[in-house]
Amino acid sequence: MRFDVLTIFPRMIDFYIAESIIKRAIERGLIEIGVTNIRDFASDKHLTVDDYPFGGGQGMVMKIEPLFNALTHVKGGHNKHTVLLCPQGAVFNQDKAMELSQKKDGIVLICGRYEGVDERISLSVDEEISIGDFILTGGELPALVIIDAVTRLLPNVLGDERSSIEESFTSGLLEYPHFTRPAEFMGMRVPEVLMSGNHKEILKWRRRQSLQRTLLKRPELIDETKLTEDDNKIMEQLKEEV
Ligand SMILES: C[S@@+](CC[C@H](N)C(=O)[O-])C[C@H]1O[C@@H](n2cnc3c(N)ncnc32)[C@H](O)[C@@H]1O
Repeated sequence: MRFDVLTIFPRMIDFYIAESIIKRAIERGLIEIGVTNIRDFASDKHLTVDDYPFGGGQGMVMKIEPLFNALTHVKGGHNKHTVLLCPQGAVFNQDKAMELSQKKDGIVLICGRYEGVDERISLSVDEEISIGDFILTGGELPALVIIDAVTRLLPNVLGDERSSIEESFTSGLLEYPHFTRPAEFMGMRVPEVLMSGNHKEILKWRRRQSLQRTLLKRPELIDETKLTEDDNKIMEQLKEEV
């Protein structure tokens, strides 16, 4: 999978992708990340990428020509899925991450700055994505959020393929709690079942925990059509306990 990020602050992207799982995925050839400086596509001698808004008002707007030229360059005539990071877009979630992980021709992520980008760029993008109902200074963090979430879902990226399948949201439920050594810390003991070696009981305990956590923390996530008969029995018990 190839990601192309269009930004006027390439080092913000370079910094994050030089560590951890993303770095290893690049080294192992599982993903490629191209970072393009939009400023390199400005045509005037000052390499201007912003200008005053027509109609007046606060702030500056990202000019369309450098952005359009940068986009045309990275797409290189290919059908790469183009995303504009924008607080007005559809809110990103795990389903969207899964959908994007299937975009085999690659994904282009356009990072806005200032008051945003000249509206006419919307004709050249496939979709607008927001990472939540708040305003950030630029699209670089949202682009990294998307790269990170999508990369985890690609084959062979995580050491254990089950990791991404079991994670919160993937199955429509929140994930069960985790513990590691020591078995006791300041009087708090790890649940005995997890140290029992009984894998069947551990699975049952984890499923119950997932259901309980989702019911308590994010009940709106529960899709009853996806619950098994055993899940429904546990849910009945949990509701009685509340
Ligand atoms: C300061 S914001 C512009 C906000 C814009 N004036 C508005 O009110 O909708 C500058 C850039 O940051 C990015 N951005 C800010 N918040 C975002 C969010 N929640 N999700 C995705 N991108 C965001 C976008 O690329 C946006 O063009």
